[in-house]
Amino acid sequence: MDDTNIFDDDLYRQIIIDHYQNPHHQGALECPTHHLEGFNASCGDSLELDLKIEDGKVTAVGFEGSGCAISMTSTSMLTDLILGKSVEEAKRITKAFKARLLGKDEDGCEDVDIGELEALDGVKAYPVRIKCALLSWNTLSEGLEHPEGLIMQ
Ligand code: FES
Repeated sequence: MDDTNIFDDDLYRQIIIDHYQNPHHQGALECPTHHLEGFNASCGDSLELDLKIEDGKVTAVGFEGSGCAISMTSTSMLTDLILGKSVEEAKRITKAFKARLLGKDEDGCEDVDIGELEALDGVKAYPVRIKCALLSWNTLSEGLEHPEGLIMQ
């Protein structure tokens, strides 16, 4: 589904189209330490997110799934942002982006660099689509909060 017409800003729209057409880190990992699954009940789209976490750091990430332009773009950006980060940093980015989209103030998020995720700010005007933008982030968040049940090896 191409939802890019909801974004007024041409630059942001182009960033979103680029990620949607060429998602980064698409594909399952061969030997993930974490396999996470997310589901958007409002549309039926699902996502599988693989992580390799070594010494508290995300050393590889990959995803499979289908969804709208907003969810695919957000997932592609997620993979860029958390790769090479510590689990704690990944949690902070997750918290900052969720707070931003949901219009909440969260302590400790002021200095978090959310990079290209700013392009998704337009989603805030469409509450029903916030779930699309947060599908991968909620999946990641659940996995990082409960890693003991998701470790595969
Ligand atoms: Fe399904 Fe956006 S419409 S994730």
